[in-house]
Amino acid sequence: MNRLVVVSNRVPAPAAAGAQAGGLAVALEALMERRGGVWFGWSGNLSEAPGPVRLAESGRVKYATIDLTAEEHERYYNEFSNSTLWPLLHSMPELMTFDRRNAQIYRQVNERLAEALQPMLRADDLIWIHDYHLMGMPQALRSRGVRAPIGFFLHIPFPSADMLASVPEAGALLRDLLAADLLGFQTENDVENFAEVACRIGDAVRMPNGWLSVGGRRVRLGVFPVEIEAHDFAAIAEDAWRAAPTERLRRSLGGQRLVLGVDRMDPTKGLLQRVAGYRRLLETRPELRRRVTFLQIAAESRKDVIAYRDLRNAVEREAGSINSEFSEPDWMPLRLVARAGARSTIAGYMREARVGLVTPLRDGMNLVAKEYVAAQDPQDPGVLILSRFAGAARQLGAALIVNPHDADEMADALDAALTMSLADRQARWRESWTAIQGASALAWGRSFVGALLRTAAAPLHARGVSGGDKGALAMANPLGLIARPLGGRDVDLTDGSTALRPPHMS
Ligand code: G6P
Repeated sequence: MNRLVVVSNRVPAPAAAGAQAGGLAVALEALMERRGGVWFGWSGNLSEAPGPVRLAESGRVKYATIDLTAEEHERYYNEFSNSTLWPLLHSMPELMTFDRRNAQIYRQVNERLAEALQPMLRADDLIWIHDYHLMGMPQALRSRGVRAPIGFFLHIPFPSADMLASVPEAGALLRDLLAADLLGFQTENDVENFAEVACRIGDAVRMPNGWLSVGGRRVRLGVFPVEIEAHDFAAIAEDAWRAAPTERLRRSLGGQRLVLGVDRMDPTKGLLQRVAGYRRLLETRPELRRRVTFLQIAAESRKDVIAYRDLRNAVEREAGSINSEFSEPDWMPLRLVARAGARSTIAGYMREARVGLVTPLRDGMNLVAKEYVAAQDPQDPGVLILSRFAGAARQLGAALIVNPHDADEMADALDAALTMSLADRQARWRESWTAIQGASALAWGRSFVGALLRTAAAPLHARGVSGGDKGALAMANPLGLIARPLGGRDVDLTDGSTALRPPHMS
């Protein structure tokens, strides 16, 4: 079996595996635990000067990490990744800042990571790079002579060509991505956007069956929606629902219905709009006051980025304003918790909640939506209210789908969810459960790796790789499988995961 080398900005410390709040790390852990391999990226630490690669091993996984300098952390992570690319790729230009110096440092960090990784690579490795922090890496590796198959997966949305054009560096990064063999996205829409931009500014040409032709080589595009371990999460939620934390929450509710939101404190999550929708509910349905409590868990995130600090202040202000306006001496309509909770605790809360409120302004997938569905009691399920702008809405059409910008629509959906009949709730839940219960994070990972192997099976000249690499590619494709069409999903039928996963805050 080829060794898998995963590259991501966020690498879970071996001891902390399972405790990460981000969807990326959690989604990958299942695959890495089962398949083993190398996981390479940022250590999460800062040091004064660029330091050496540090190695650690846990189970079958070798962790290889480097520290960032304070300037790199600021300009590569806080600035270009999270203040330029994150809002750009989420189509939220009003939050975006751009500075050429930040783009240069972003590129330098991508180059430095490639330089550190290259000596560790073997000819028959499969390299899988993740997310918007590392868009320069496919080309940075190729320019250092790396010829092994390279896959890249974007966990967040990919915007339209017009949107992308607002960042001067974006065209160059797009061309860097095209040095990979396989580019994976969450939804068909992301693939379409990427293909269009690649043709417009990356000199790519669409070919049949999901391939692009770029400068004499071929690159495959595919849709790989990230999944959760639904059955495991259901079991965790069932146990947690009877345990002390959920029991305490239930007692504190005194029979009121619980509306629950679980997110990172992030401007894409639509927290202010969500609070506005709840305010509209309280204004227009006075009969629901005292009968409902909204608990929003908003785990602090990227706190050095100004937009995130501003958001926290604004959300706290709004929550305070709702509470002072609508509270009674013995009833508080909104509880805001700006900390992440333990995996099982959140799962128990999800099962207790009559309504799961998942209303991002834009989201690649949003695994909280899937977790809420998995956590429900089939006999007495709650109702998911889901933003039409979350990738998950494509799979969870049985949820109440809302536009988070429309406070009245949110209030209507909350009202409908809080008063929905048991038969309706059961029917909607069954449809949602059917959509997620057969999939798993492990199968997702395997399906991408399988597609990368098949992509590597394309004729060598088509991949633009010279003859010296033939041996490695032959090993990389023991099954001689062929690639699937654009937008087609690769399903690995060999999956049998039972690993437990924490809740995600993607
Ligand atoms: C999202 C991104 C991930 C990121 C995670 C947590 O899920 O797609 O790449 O790791 O958020 O954000 P952080 O900045 O803490 O890594």
